[in-house]
Amino acid sequence: MSFKTIIEPFRIKMVEPITMTTEVQRKKFLEQAHYNPFLLNSDQVLIDFLTDSGTSAMSAAQWAGMMEGDESYAGARSWRRMEKVIHDLTGLKYVFPTHQGRAAERILYGYLGGKGKFFISNTHFDTTRANIEFSGAEAIDIPCIESNDTQSEFPFKGNMDVKKLEDLILKHKPKNIGGVILTVTNNSGGGQPVSMENAKLVSAVCKKYKVKLFLDCCRVAENSFFIHQKEKGYENKTYKQIAQKMFSLVDGAIMSAKKDALVNMGGFLALKDSSIAEACKNLLIITEGFTTYGGLSGRDMEAIAIGLEEVFHADYLLYRIRSTSFLGDRLHAMGIPVMRPIGGHAVYVDAKKFYSQIPVEQYPGQALVCELYLKGGIRSVEIGSVMFGKYDDVGKLIPSRMELVRLAIPRRVYTQSHIEYVIEVFEKLMEGKNKVRGYEITYEPKFLRHFTAKFKPV
Ligand code: F0G
Repeated sequence: MSFKTIIEPFRIKMVEPITMTTEVQRKKFLEQAHYNPFLLNSDQVLIDFLTDSGTSAMSAAQWAGMMEGDESYAGARSWRRMEKVIHDLTGLKYVFPTHQGRAAERILYGYLGGKGKFFISNTHFDTTRANIEFSGAEAIDIPCIESNDTQSEFPFKGNMDVKKLEDLILKHKPKNIGGVILTVTNNSGGGQPVSMENAKLVSAVCKKYKVKLFLDCCRVAENSFFIHQKEKGYENKTYKQIAQKMFSLVDGAIMSAKKDALVNMGGFLALKDSSIAEACKNLLIITEGFTTYGGLSGRDMEAIAIGLEEVFHADYLLYRIRSTSFLGDRLHAMGIPVMRPIGGHAVYVDAKKFYSQIPVEQYPGQALVCELYLKGGIRSVEIGSVMFGKYDDVGKLIPSRMELVRLAIPRRVYTQSHIEYVIEVFEKLMEGKNKVRGYEITYEPKFLRHFTAKFKPV
C-alpha cells in the first residue's frame, strides 16, 4: 500500500531551539542589517533557507563516527575509510581531501588554468568561475537552450549545449581548453539535473578532442534521483549505480562535501591522470595539508565517509526531492512564479514576475528577500542584479539575466510543518504584493557585493 504523505525517514533525538521573533523585532533587526539578510545574526532567523551548504543535520551514525575519528597526521584510519568510499563511488584512482569545494577548485583550476586558457561548463558556480578567472583563464557558460524558459517543464534543464561545446572547442583550439566542467545538479541554473544522455554526449566530444572533463559533483545523489525518475533505461538501477556510471564518463571530480555528503565541512578532488594528480598533490601539501587529511580533521573525514553512503539511501532521496518539490509545487499552485520544474536542493522564485511593479534598478529580488524576512523570519538569497549586476561606463546598471530568489533547503533539518509555515508566509506576501517597493544600494564593495552591500528602501 502506498500513501501520498511521505514522512521524514528519521526521528529527531536532538533539537536546536529556534528563537521566536515578532514582526516588530524583525523590522528593527532588518534595519540594523541594512536590509541585507547576510548581515543578520542566525538567531534572528526563524527558517534559514540561505544555503543548503554545510547546513545538514548529521545522523547518529555520523556522530558516532566522529568519536572514532583518527587524528593522526599521516595515514589516518579515517582518511583510508573516506578514500575507500570515494574510490568505490567515483572509480577515480587519485583522491585528495580538501577543506571544502573551492579549495579543490583552486588547486585543480589553478593548475590547469592561466592566461589564454578556457573552461566551458553548463554553468560555473560563482567560486568555480572566480577560481578560474583568478588564474587568468576565461570561464564560458553554455547551458542548454531549454533552460532559458523558466516555465518550461523540460526534465533536464541542467544539460550542457553539446553543439556549442564542439563549436567552442574548435574556435579556441583543444590545446587551450583547460577543462570542461559538468555541474550536477546545475546550482546556478536552478538546481536542475543533467541527464546521463547529455553527460555521455559531452564526454564523447571531450574524448574526440582530447579535452579533460570534470564533474562538479556536490549534488550528484540528487541528480541521480532525477535520472532514475525521468530518464529511460535507469529505472532499475540504484542511485549509486547511476552516479557511478556518470563518474565513469569523466577524468576527474570536485566535490563540496557540504552538500550531498551530509556534513558541515569538507570536500575532495579525485583524478584519473597521474601527472595532473602529482601536480595537485604538491599544491595540496603546500596550501591545504598532507595528502591524508588535506585541511580536515579525522572526525570530519569519518563523517564524510558515512554521509556519502547515507545520501544514496532510497528513502532519504525520495524524502529529500519530494520535500523540495512539495514546497515548490504548492507555491506554483498558489500562482507564485517559481522556476519549473522544481530542482533538487532549492526553490527559485522569479521576483521580477512576482513584484512586476518594481523596476530591476530597484532590485525586486532584494525586496522579496526582505519581505520574506520581515513577514515570516525566513532568510533567503537574492540571485539577480544584486549578485550579478554590473555597471556600464556611465554608471547605469546592466542587470542580470534573471531576478531570482533562492530558497535553499538544508538537508534533514526542517519538518513538513516548517514548510507549511513558509507556504503560509507566501500567502501573506500575496495579499500586499502590489504595495511593496524596491531598494537602492547605499554601500557596495568592489567584488562579490551581495555579501556586504547595504540598502535602503526607496
Ligand atoms: N560547486 C557548486 C555547484 C556549489 O554549489 C558550491 C557551493 C561550490 C562548488 C563551492 O563549494 O562552498 O564547499 O567551497 N555552493 C554553496 C551554495 C555555497 O550556497 O550554493 P564550497
